[in-house]
Amino acid sequence: MTLQELQIALRRCGSLAACDVLLQAQFHEIRPLFYGLTWQELHDNCRYLDYEDAFLTFENSPSGQAIRSGERPPDSVIALLIFFLSLFERSRCYALILNVSNLLPSGSLRDRGEALVEYKHITDARRDYLRRFDRILGLLQGAWNHGNVKERAKCEDLLQEYAIDSILEPFAAGITIRPEIAARFQNESDFLRYPILADRSVQEIFDLSEKGLERKRIELRSRIVESLHEEACSLAPGALLNRFAEEFSGEPIPVIQQHKTLPCFIDEQLKTMGAVYAQLRRGARINFNGDSDYNRIYLGTYFPKSVIESWNIFSELLSIPIIAAAFRQKDSIRVLDIGSGTGAAVVGTLLALKDWGQCQCRTPVEVTSMDFNQDALAKQNLILDAIREDLPFDLKTDLRHQPLPFDLDGFVRDFSSVAHSERRKYDVIICWKCLSEFYNVSFAVAQGIIRNTLSISSGMLTPFSLCVVSDVTTTDNGYEYFAQTFNRESNEYEITPQAIMRTIIPLSCATKSTTCRAQTCYTQRRFEVVHRLASHDATKIAYRVFAPTSFADSITATFAKQCSYRVNSARPDEACLEGTKGHFSSDAPCGYTGFFR
Ligand SMILES: C[S@@+](CC[C@H](N)C(=O)[O-])C[C@H]1O[C@@H](n2cnc3c(N)ncnc32)[C@H](O)[C@@H]1O
Repeated sequence: MTLQELQIALRRCGSLAACDVLLQAQFHEIRPLFYGLTWQELHDNCRYLDYEDAFLTFENSPSGQAIRSGERPPDSVIALLIFFLSLFERSRCYALILNVSNLLPSGSLRDRGEALVEYKHITDARRDYLRRFDRILGLLQGAWNHGNVKERAKCEDLLQEYAIDSILEPFAAGITIRPEIAARFQNESDFLRYPILADRSVQEIFDLSEKGLERKRIELRSRIVESLHEEACSLAPGALLNRFAEEFSGEPIPVIQQHKTLPCFIDEQLKTMGAVYAQLRRGARINFNGDSDYNRIYLGTYFPKSVIESWNIFSELLSIPIIAAAFRQKDSIRVLDIGSGTGAAVVGTLLALKDWGQCQCRTPVEVTSMDFNQDALAKQNLILDAIREDLPFDLKTDLRHQPLPFDLDGFVRDFSSVAHSERRKYDVIICWKCLSEFYNVSFAVAQGIIRNTLSISSGMLTPFSLCVVSDVTTTDNGYEYFAQTFNRESNEYEITPQAIMRTIIPLSCATKSTTCRAQTCYTQRRFEVVHRLASHDATKIAYRVFAPTSFADSITATFAKQCSYRVNSARPDEACLEGTKGHFSSDAPCGYTGFFR
C-alpha cells in the first residue's frame, strides 16, 4: 500500500466502523508508511505535505466528522492517529499535532500530545518556554497522575525533553534562559503542585553541559518515537505479527549446499581462542556490547554458522561464469564487511575465494572490517592472522572500530561520512546479521536503515562487484519477521530513481523487485553446519545479492528463466510467481539455488 492508496481508502470509508475494518485488515502495510524516512527526505520536495494531505483527508472524512461529533474512535483509528502524531513530530510540523490531538479521546495520550505542541511549537524562544511552564506541567502532571508505570515514564521523558529544549533552543539563538528555567524546575512550591518534577532524571538535566544535553536529547528522541510506536501497535495487536510455521512438517527437503563442515585449521584456531558452544536463550540478538566471554560463546556457536553460509553463497556466486570472468580480471579483490564482528562472514568469503574455479586464486585480497565491538575486532584480527598461512593469496587487513548510531538520521549521517572518506571502491561488500541488531535495539527509529545501507554502500562498489546482505529470519524485534522488513526495504531501495544496483539473487526478487507487491514476503534458506563443538547444527537466513545495475543485467541475462520460484525452505508449496506469492503444487525451483542445480 502507498500513502496515496491509504488516502483514497480513508476518503472512501463512510463511517468509523468501516475505517476500523480497513485499518485492521491493512495495519501491517500501513504502519511502515509512517516510518523509515529521514528528516531530510521528509523535507526534500516537502514530502511531509503528502502526510498532511492524508491527515486532512481523514480529518474531513465521515470518520473524522464522526469523532468531532462525539463518537469514540476505535483502537485502530487511535493507532493511526498516533502514527500521524509521531510523523508530524519527527517532521517538525508541530501545529498539525494539535489537529491530531483534538481527535484523540481525552486522557493521557491527548494530554501528552498537547504538551508536546506547547513546548515544540515555539514562536518566541525568550518567553514561550517560561510562559508555558504551568500549562505544560499541568498537562503532564494530569497524564502522570492517571497513568500506569509505563505512561508515567512517557510523561517523564517528555518533561525531560521540555527541560532540554528550553535550554538548548534559546541557546542556539544566542539567548540564555538556563538560570530562569532551572529556577522554575527547582522551585520548592512547584514541587508540591507538580510532583512529577521530583523525578531524579528530570533534575539531573540541570547538571549536564550543552554537549551532555545534546546526547541526552538524542536518547530521549529515540525513546519517545519508540514508545509512541509501541503504543500504536499495542492497540492493534492481532493485525500485526503473522506467526509463521517455521518448520516444514512434510517430507524433508534436501538441503543443497557445497560446504557443510568447518575446515580443521579454523576449528583449531577457535579452540585456541577458547570458543564455547552455548545456544543463548534469545539467540545472538544484541552483540555490539558483548564482552570477551560473550564473544567466546559467539565464536563457538554462531561464528561457524556465518562461515558456512558465506562460504557456500560466495562459492555459488563465483561458479556463475560471468561473475567468475569479472573477478578473474581483478588485480586485487577489495572486501568491505559492515558489522563484521569476529569476522565469520569474511572468513567464509576468503574460503570461497581460496578454492574457486579450476585453480587456486592468487589475486591479493584486502579486507576492511568495521564494527562497534572492539573485543570482537581484536578476535577477528587473531583469526585472520592465524588463517593467513592457509590462504594461497596475499591478505591485507584493516580492522576499524566504527560504532554507527542506532537511529536512522544519525546512521545516515555517520555511514555517509564513512562512505565519503573512502578513497578506493570495493569489489565485494558484505553485511552479515548486523542490520537486524539496529532493529532489535529500537525498531521504530531504525526503520529505513536497511534501505539506506544499500543506497550508501552502492556508491562504494566498483562496476563489476557484488554486495551481499544476509540476516536472521527471527522476530527478535517483537514486531515483524526480520526477513519481511529486509525484503520490504530492499524493494523500497530498488524502486528509488537513484538506485544504482539491483538484486540478482533470489531469482524471484531479481526479476520482480521493482514491481513486487508481496509486502510480507518471507524468504529463507537453511544450511547445515558441522564443526568440532556441534555435529548437527543448522542455520536459517534471508539474503540478497546485489550488483551494480549494468553488471546485474548481464548476470541475470545468463540465468535460465522459470515462471515461479520457491523462496522459503520451510514452505515448498509456496512460490513467487511474477512478484506475487502463492501456493503451487508443482515443484518450483528454489530461488536461491535454482540456477546452480
Ligand atoms: C550478529 S553479529 C554478526 C557478526 C558477523 N557479521 C557474523 O556474521 O558473524 C552483529 C554485529 O553487528 C555489530 N553491530 C551492531 N550494531 C552496530 C552498530 N551500531 N555499529 C557498528 N556495528 C554494529 C555488532 O557489534 C556485531 O559484531
